[in-house]
Amino acid sequence: MRTMRSDYMHWAKFKPPVRYALTGSEVPHFRMDSLPWSVADLDLDGASHPRYPPLREAIGRRYGVPAEQVVSADGTSMANMLALAALIAPGDEVLIEQPTYEPLLQAARFLGAKIKRFERRSEDGFALNPTAVATAATPATRLIVLTNVHNPSGALAGEEQLRAIGSIAAECGARVLIDEVYLDAAIPRPRSAVHLGPEFVTTSSLTKVYGLSGLRCGWVLAEAKLAERIWRLNDLFGVNQAHAAERLACIAFDHIGEVLGDSPALLQRNRALFNRFLDGRNDLECTPAVHALTAFPRWLRGDTVRLDTLLRERYDTAVVPGRWFEMPDHFRVGFGSPTKDFAEGLSRLGGALDDLR
Ligand SMILES: Cc1ncc(COP(=O)(O)O)c(C=O)c1O
Repeated sequence: MRTMRSDYMHWAKFKPPVRYALTGSEVPHFRMDSLPWSVADLDLDGASHPRYPPLREAIGRRYGVPAEQVVSADGTSMANMLALAALIAPGDEVLIEQPTYEPLLQAARFLGAKIKRFERRSEDGFALNPTAVATAATPATRLIVLTNVHNPSGALAGEEQLRAIGSIAAECGARVLIDEVYLDAAIPRPRSAVHLGPEFVTTSSLTKVYGLSGLRCGWVLAEAKLAERIWRLNDLFGVNQAHAAERLACIAFDHIGEVLGDSPALLQRNRALFNRFLDGRNDLECTPAVHALTAFPRWLRGDTVRLDTLLRERYDTAVVPGRWFEMPDHFRVGFGSPTKDFAEGLSRLGGALDDLR
């Protein structure tokens, strides 16, 4: 039967709230009303502006590509959907990392892809392994899909590994789609893989690292001809974006340093706390957090739904059980909460882990 939904996204939206949510994967929200602008800047005249050039130029400037390589979209989510829809025909063979962000998998299924998986091994810190990709690839492979920084583990792939995967794709006549929504959290900020060659297509947004999920400012970066195809395809989907949101996104790009604010320092503090927490636990296996907004420890005592249930019921705290990433004995922790809350959440997580010893 055709996939018509993302169960993970439904759970992520409607799970019962808790005081200490280690489930999130976004820095604290940025308040747009802390920047100097007025309602007149929103161009609220009712007009829509096809492919609004100032926003494409702003995205292009930040990521070092010409505007003709930028397709704007509603969040990374719609950017992924557009890119996948442009690159997959029903029955096409598509290689997708495992574990991965579930909506990528479900969107490819919705489009009728024949999906094959390549493993990112917990034992290797979920490092991207070009040999695993080469083993899974066949002459029928049309697309290779991965996240960098990796969701859920936070592993960062370097250009050498990405180039190796680009060569595998080029040999098959395939493309590589990389969801880079967490990439700007890495230190130093790597360039987008779109710079590595025409087979690379990347997506991202102002959501996770910038705390502006409400603007839904996302984009695809791709070689110009493919970008044009994606724009044309979007005439079947959203046609144009909400212009007021496009204007707000331009204002955010003009003040990107202020938008980032304390977030990079907050992530560093929380990563350090998390790494100290890991040092004190012999029931968890996890590589230390360096670049990411999330980590994906393995719990040596089995299915982490049990852990999450106890956390919620007794500790008003939550993690993302690994079942949502096809690895039930793992769980995901997000580093985006204010440090005081994050420290308290970790301490409660420690309490629940101790209870289940
Ligand atoms: C890998 C990945 N891509 C995309 C998204 C959605 O991002 P956006 O809010 O930009 O649509 C998420 C959200 O969790 C994610 O983890």
